[in-house]
Amino acid sequence: MINIKYLLTAMGITLLVVSCQNGLSEADKGEYLERGKKIAAATAENMLAEVGKNMKEGGVAQAVPFCNIHADGLTTEMAQQNGVSIKRTSHLLRNEKNVPTTREQEIIAQFQKLQTEKQELSPVVEQNEDGTVQFYMPIKLVQKCTVCHGVLGESLTQAHDSIIKSIYPKDQAIGFREGDLRGIWSIQFPKK
Ligand code: HEC
Repeated sequence: MINIKYLLTAMGITLLVVSCQNGLSEADKGEYLERGKKIAAATAENMLAEVGKNMKEGGVAQAVPFCNIHADGLTTEMAQQNGVSIKRTSHLLRNEKNVPTTREQEIIAQFQKLQTEKQELSPVVEQNEDGTVQFYMPIKLVQKCTVCHGVLGESLTQAHDSIIKSIYPKDQAIGFREGDLRGIWSIQFPKK
């Protein structure tokens, strides 16, 4: 007869091994996904409201310098409120400070591949080696972004591009069309 105690112990060990391999349980992953999406959406909304206000007041000539000075502060503020760190990064950068890590580059490449295969892009949650948890979410370009990130001579005027290049001489973040992958949100949650 099989010893029930032995069986239960074996099952327990198997479960433990499986859950350690994945790092995060499915329930944990779901929770981080929801929190990540909420934080990214709130940060985007916050930034867009500020950019919109500056666009109304002084157009691109005012909104671009505003972003240059305040984009960091706005994300930091949202990060502190939520006890996380928040980053926006891209394969085509405007601000060199937003340079992607190796893992972020891989995630962007994965999203680009899915995009060319016309598949849906969904956020990703992973545990880092140090136990922190990372959330990645695609950022797609919408029409109102094209005034500063669009195709030169089409949605992006030469005059606006000159303003952008005067602050970001190495700017690569133009040539995007609506629906293109502009970059990703990368949000880090502390160890539980
Ligand atoms: C008024 C011009 C303007 C508009 C409109 C605008 N951006 Fe930007 N964007 C900028 C500037 C300037 C930066 C660099 C900010 C900084 O210095 O951190 C930037 C940076 C970014 C970055 C960070 C990566 C990088 O290249 O440095 C992302 C991602 C991004 N923008 C996406 C968007 C999206 C998506 C929209 C529309 C919802 C949008 N932007 C609308 C001017 C703009």
